[in-house]
Amino acid sequence: MKFCNIEVESPFFLAPMAGVTDVPFRSVCEDYGAALTYTEMVSAKALTYKDEKSARMLHLPEKRKPCFAQIFGSEPDVMAEGARLAAEISGAEGIDINMGCPVSKIVGNGEGSALMRDPKLAEAIIKAVVAAVDVPVTVKFRKGFEAGADTCVEFAKMAEQAGVAALCVHGRTRAQMYTGQSDRTAITRVREAITSIPVLASGDALSAKACFEILDETGADAVMIARGAEGNPFIFEDCLRRMQGRDLRRPTCGELLDLLIRHAEEMVAWKGERSLVEFRKHALWYLGRLSGVKPYKVQMSGVSDLAHLKSICEAIRKEDPAVKEA
Ligand SMILES: Cc1cc2nc3c(=O)[nH]c(=O)nc-3n(C[C@H](O)[C@H](O)[C@H](O)COP(=O)(O)O)c2cc1C
Repeated sequence: MKFCNIEVESPFFLAPMAGVTDVPFRSVCEDYGAALTYTEMVSAKALTYKDEKSARMLHLPEKRKPCFAQIFGSEPDVMAEGARLAAEISGAEGIDINMGCPVSKIVGNGEGSALMRDPKLAEAIIKAVVAAVDVPVTVKFRKGFEAGADTCVEFAKMAEQAGVAALCVHGRTRAQMYTGQSDRTAITRVREAITSIPVLASGDALSAKACFEILDETGADAVMIARGAEGNPFIFEDCLRRMQGRDLRRPTCGELLDLLIRHAEEMVAWKGERSLVEFRKHALWYLGRLSGVKPYKVQMSGVSDLAHLKSICEAIRKEDPAVKEA
């Protein structure tokens, strides 16, 4: 299938997640079938200040699937320059604008989901970014801002008119943060109102079954998998197997541990051994799939070198604990 004129293998994309969807995690998810990925959100302003850490978040490996670089900010001219830099640094297939982040620090700066309260400014940002880059520009937003708000259809129409190549709607309001349920009917209404560009669905894509229900119910062109992929890149394989009418396959304990180790090795290769502190959360997500490994989780939460991480995995492997359903 095509998405924004880019050939993609399936409608199962890896969502942007700050602190999670870095190069090693994207690479692991791609190998299990993620058809398109997003970088973590990067500050447009920081890019214009030549912040090296932000630029590094946009470095993409040579061998990869299509990837969109996501930026956030609130000033049209800064966002335009940030988008231009993000496209140049990353060589990504597209730029995604974050208009959905609910975190207080971001919202307090008028960024992320705060832009849903100021559609005029959001429109100016979209137009400035579209004019600044040669690649497709997409926007990711929420059902609305306040509790009970439902402004996504108007917001989607504005974004379509302003020139975006695709939209992604997360069916929660900002007030919900990541709690409660994502409202699939909001995504359906956006899909029905927007006829000229693809609409992606986000929210509660926690299993292959849920992903198929979301696609069926909303009519969305693709689904973004976010928390459902944490410690579980296998979810992409599940989606592809389901698409092909094959039975789902639960990974064995050995496969899960092999993947944990491979992911850790990629992390060390990409960011050095010190990054294993950052990696602990991934390791604990993987171990969350195994029954009765609490003492090992305690050890893993203090891990800071690869040899120690591997020795914990080997001790678990000997016990061969049962793998829980995802
Ligand atoms: C830890 C974390 C970080 C996230 N960071 C971003 C981000 O940088 N940009 C973004 O657009 N959405 C971000 N999101 C939102 C997800 O992309 C997704 O829309 C949301 O988690 C809903 O999907 P889910 O219910 O299937 O997890 C983040 C979510 C989580 C849990």
